[in-house]
Amino acid sequence: MVHILFICLGNICRSPLAEEVFRTLAERGGREKDFEIDSAGLIDYHEGELADERMRRTAARRGYRLTHRSRPVTAADFRRFDYIVAMDAANLRGLARLRPAEAKAEVVLLADYLTRHASSSIPDPYYGTAADFEHVVDLCEDACAELLCRLA
Ligand code: 4NP
Repeated sequence: MVHILFICLGNICRSPLAEEVFRTLAERGGREKDFEIDSAGLIDYHEGELADERMRRTAARRGYRLTHRSRPVTAADFRRFDYIVAMDAANLRGLARLRPAEAKAEVVLLADYLTRHASSSIPDPYYGTAADFEHVVDLCEDACAELLCRLA
């Protein structure tokens, strides 16, 4: 069993989407039992909330139903998860500040797994347009497919 945690700032746009895209791809490949998949945020402003309505609507049109409730990442997550997958460089800096001494998690950047798009991050769509939310789905589908392959 591989334990994988997707991280973004608010845990209401990018990481709940990435979580559900990865889960769907794993299910399609008959590999859902190989993974524990979750997501969390660096801030707790949205704790307990469903994903942002714009993200849920865009995801639904693309076949993903987002039911995750926002939660902040904890020091315990660094012990429980094998991989912590961040969306951008600011997430990496936030995670580095939280990382406890006895962590096991390998922290990686989702954009490093892109094969069909060239982007150094999964950009924050929160203050963006409908096209920005659509782009997050495109990027997450691309990178999560490659991440799943590499974790084979
Ligand atoms: P996320 O997007 O990190 O992809 O969930 C954001 C959500 C909320 C905020 C910023 C980014 N916020 O500032 O509340």
